[in-house]
Amino acid sequence: MFCTSFFLESMAVRIIIGAQWGDEGKGKIVDLLSSDVEFVVRYQGGANAGHTIKFDDQKVVLHLVPSGIFNGKASCVIGNGVVIDPVALREEIETIEDMGIDLTDRLFISESAHIILHYHKLLDQLKEKNRGEDAIGTTGRGIGPAYVSKISRVGIRAGDLLNETALKRKIESNLADINEALIHIYNETPVEVDFIYNEIRDSVNRIIPYICNSTNLLHDALKSSKSVLLEGAQGSLLDVDHGTYPYVTSSSPTAGGACTGSGIPPMAISNVTGITKAYCTRVGNGPFPTELFDEDGDKLRKNGQEFGATTGRPRRCGWLDLVALKYAVRLNGINELALTKMDVLDSFKTIKLCTAYKIDNEITDIFPSSIEKLEQIEPVYKSFDGWNKNINEIDSFEDLPQKALEYIDFIESYIGVSFKLVSTGPKRSETILRS
Ligand code: GDP
Ligand code: IMO
Ligand code: MG
Repeated sequence: MFCTSFFLESMAVRIIIGAQWGDEGKGKIVDLLSSDVEFVVRYQGGANAGHTIKFDDQKVVLHLVPSGIFNGKASCVIGNGVVIDPVALREEIETIEDMGIDLTDRLFISESAHIILHYHKLLDQLKEKNRGEDAIGTTGRGIGPAYVSKISRVGIRAGDLLNETALKRKIESNLADINEALIHIYNETPVEVDFIYNEIRDSVNRIIPYICNSTNLLHDALKSSKSVLLEGAQGSLLDVDHGTYPYVTSSSPTAGGACTGSGIPPMAISNVTGITKAYCTRVGNGPFPTELFDEDGDKLRKNGQEFGATTGRPRRCGWLDLVALKYAVRLNGINELALTKMDVLDSFKTIKLCTAYKIDNEITDIFPSSIEKLEQIEPVYKSFDGWNKNINEIDSFEDLPQKALEYIDFIESYIGVSFKLVSTGPKRSETILRS
């Protein structure tokens, strides 16, 4: 079996964070590291996430259940910061059980996590339609509206699912506002409480056994020095505060979100591992300075099979953006990096890295926060010769081709943080750990 224990030697509580716009390969890395971990916790987002795991010739895409469910015995916690679509979660639970995995004492759902209902998904889709050309390109999974309910203090939480009468009353009281919007803004037919409830009833019964006080569970785990892996969804540049606003998701994938979304205090975090692809992708709309519209972009998409794990949409592809990566490293306090999809670059003659931005005729290495500036960026590139060799069977860092090592070395010098892991394929075994 692939052994990760030395990687985890110093680990007590580690956050795994996407350092780009999502889909960096978080699922693969969390699965890999889970063999030696006692708790794996998803801390934000919902079924907008699609985390792909490949093992024993099987491929599974997880949306809500933490990616530690298949490798080892870790307790998998859906934290308070996650927004849960009960129907999507039930489907996922059934898929996992069909694979022969018993979730009793393996899966835990925070009673404080908020619930996505039919009207959140409907509003997400209607709002996007109304935005026309300015659409964010959401996944349509109800994420934004569910976090709106949460922040407006009218959300339904997992704990509310335990009392049917009170639950129906809460849904009914929300429907007054929701139906106002459906009728008067969107010209749609209103929805009724029984319709909303009946849609989730069977799923609710399926997930109730796993609902618990996960904050307390994690505090007890910390007290007895258990190892914890906090699994981020999306990526730093989709963060609602620090990303390319308004083209972001509605939660906090960055390190701060790991604390608020799990109840684990900041001082308990020992490592923050940033995951970056060897190039860049983005799904949905919004600024993407290094996006390629040429043959290289098509080749990245084809070689990297860059199609959304949740929606199947083709991902936009471009060169690795070091200005954006350095920003993500600083935002999260990333103290070690993992480089994924390095193999996708195997057959490129020339590879480029973006080292600065030109905005308004000025050169900068600071990632701007204003959308107007983000949209004007002209990337400044440094070119590298490709290595023209398949690397997916290489298992030691020193055996990587010289040109690949030069590429990695330049990134590390620019960012000031080292790669502890290089991923050379989707499977667990296609990984190089660096001592
Ligand atoms: P996540 O959302 O960050 O978990 O990433 P996704 O699962 O959405 O997308 C990553 C895709 O790349 C999945 O299809 C993975 O199986 C695949 N993948 C992960 N690491 C590697 C790698 O090193 N090389 C290649 N070729 N594919 C990889
Ligand atoms: P994982 O965890 C990539 C993007 C959507 C859209 C924006 C807002 O697999 O990396 P939302 O439905 O969240 O309101 O959409 O965020 N997005 C993702 N892009 N990977 C994801 O998750 C994403 N989750 C949301 O495409 O641009
Ligand atoms: Mg994904």
